[in-house]
Amino acid sequence: MESVLFSIDQLSHRYADDTIALKSLSLTIKQGKKIALLGNNGAGKSTLFLHLNGILQPTSGKIYFKGKEVAYNRKALLSLRRQVGIVFQDPDSQLFSASVIQDISFGPKNLGLSNEKVLERVEWAMEQTETAVLKDKPTHFLSLGQKKRVAIAGVLAMDPEVIILDEPTAGLDAYYSKQIMNVLNIIQKQQKTIILSTHDVNLAYEWADEVVVMHDGEVLCHSDPVTVFQQEEIIKKAHLDTPWVMEMFQALVEGKVISSDEAIAQNKEELFQKIRFNNMKILQ
Ligand SMILES: Nc1ncnc2c1ncn2[C@@H]1O[C@H](COP(=O)(O)OP(=O)(O)O)[C@@H](O)[C@H]1O
Ligand SMILES: [Mg+2]
Repeated sequence: MESVLFSIDQLSHRYADDTIALKSLSLTIKQGKKIALLGNNGAGKSTLFLHLNGILQPTSGKIYFKGKEVAYNRKALLSLRRQVGIVFQDPDSQLFSASVIQDISFGPKNLGLSNEKVLERVEWAMEQTETAVLKDKPTHFLSLGQKKRVAIAGVLAMDPEVIILDEPTAGLDAYYSKQIMNVLNIIQKQQKTIILSTHDVNLAYEWADEVVVMHDGEVLCHSDPVTVFQQEEIIKKAHLDTPWVMEMFQALVEGKVISSDEAIAQNKEELFQKIRFNNMKILQ
């Protein structure tokens, strides 16, 4: 049975200047899933994430982690943050040590692990994010994309059960975006839960098990990617586009290149496979 990790019940958040960023939002997050949060700027994605490891507290509503209500005393927060790692949208809020390697080591060192274990994790995290070449650089000299990769390495090195990434690919070029997504896929196979926010509908469609669409502090829709992106009204309301794989599939069905009996392609490889398969049938 799939176990529920986070259960968010009518969560509202009002900032000090009276901005209401979350409006009675309810959401269930199951263990081991890859979840993509989509929504326009200001939808409340970052605010929601900051609640999931206790950086922000609800103005009203409740958050349960593994069936227990999140508490805000020091001990409870420490335990929560060991299990739920977050990579902030802005890496400058994350990096504070003198050098890259010090920064990536900081978290695992604080977990009380042996030096060998710390080193092992840090080296693994640097390898996965290709940051080993930067290891002695001061973090403030890094480019935005490098800072993002170092911030991601720092969280990976903690080996949390849940990894939350706020727009991890924003500011990264195509090569490193792909690299980061590959790492996330490797980690997810180890039973981890990954929640990320993104503006990239193609990434959400092809990568995620579940897509959550947010708008104006509310969840408009939460389902598998195909079901979500088939709801045109919601996509429009949340200022999103249709993923290209889905659009292309629909055009090929309309053009009778792909049979209308075929299940919709969920990624590029599936789409190409269907085109080849149907072409072969035509040629025979
Ligand atoms: N520290 C803050 N103080 C006041 N308002 C804020 C603060 N942080 C975010 N907001 C506001 O809360 C709303 C949700 O913001 P945010 O969670 O950052 O959305 P997203 O990450 O989806 O772009 C926006 O209207 C934003 O201006
Ligand atoms: Mg944000």
